[in-house]
Amino acid sequence: MSPYSPLPPFQLTRALPEDATDAALRSDVLHGLTSTPKTLPPKWFYDAHGSVLFDEITMLPEYYPTRAEREVLVARAAEIADVTGVRTLVELGSGSSDKTRHLLDAFTELTTYVPVDVSESALRGAADTLLAEHPALSVHALVADFTRPLALPETPGPRLVAFLGGTIGNLLPAERADFLRAVRGMLSPGDFFLLGTDLVKDEATLVAAYDDAAGVTAAFNKNVLAVVNRELGADFDLGAFEHVAVWDGEREWIEMRLRSAGEQVVKVPALDLAVEFGPGEELRTEVSAKFRQDGVRGELRAAGLELERWWTDAAGRFAVSLSSVSMEG
Ligand code: SAH
Ligand code: TRP
Repeated sequence: MSPYSPLPPFQLTRALPEDATDAALRSDVLHGLTSTPKTLPPKWFYDAHGSVLFDEITMLPEYYPTRAEREVLVARAAEIADVTGVRTLVELGSGSSDKTRHLLDAFTELTTYVPVDVSESALRGAADTLLAEHPALSVHALVADFTRPLALPETPGPRLVAFLGGTIGNLLPAERADFLRAVRGMLSPGDFFLLGTDLVKDEATLVAAYDDAAGVTAAFNKNVLAVVNRELGADFDLGAFEHVAVWDGEREWIEMRLRSAGEQVVKVPALDLAVEFGPGEELRTEVSAKFRQDGVRGELRAAGLELERWWTDAAGRFAVSLSSVSMEG
């Protein structure tokens, strides 16, 4: 390379070697299908097909979070740029990066964007669009699991770590605490954390968002079974499970489940496993927790982060918050 060549505008680093992914899937499926109640962890929804289905969800009339969060980002992008002076944006679970474009347009000092996702296909698709729109931006994509320790590239500060889409609600409370501590560990004083949280609201609106009339969410939920079939040779019959979304008013989360229509035995040859499902037995696939401002502030504070700004859409459905690094923490 000549000393004058620019940095490559796009780099992709795989922090998830194929065999590690395979081992993690095996261990998650073995553990989940032999637990009571049965569970499967959500990150396995997002193969290439799952990522496409999720993008369809974001366009459904019932699925308000994407539109509500977009409204906040459009309204506040310039203010976020002002407060943070961000030069590197790290985004966890970036998916299509579609809403992120409103930030990139407003972040005039930005040199580097680091999207992090388990879905390599989503990262590649996003980078194509972003680089066409921001040819001067250096994009360093990371295929990685954000619930595991992350090795971020050395990039200019100040750094803003963003976690949008309400994806934090897909972590269980103890996982959330660990996750927020890890985010704090990615930040130095003067850096910021931008978090999207869906808010507690009436049950009908919430349930509809996770059980749409066109059945896209049902297909997305069942896609996790298709992933286990393909990767581990299992024989899940997707037609023998029904998509269920229920609101747990005590824990304030939506729970996604797959209900076995009848009695059935599912074989998972790669694990040498046969799993019995009773009629009506439910497999829990995902929670989507909903938040209140006080709860978010408290969880951030416990992780050494200080909530500085709290913005919602006009209808008060979804919040985006900006936090700094606590002086004591
Ligand atoms: N931020 C986007 C996408 C949200 S969907 C939006 O707001 O629309 C959640 C995203 O997180 C998906 O792209 C999925 O592939 C990714 N994801 C889920 N679990 C993950 C994990 N453990 N590590 C990294 N990425 C994950
Ligand atoms: N982060 C999204 C959410 O909690 C993920 C999601 C949307 C999802 N719809 C779903 C996960 C249906 C499983 C099933 O809103």
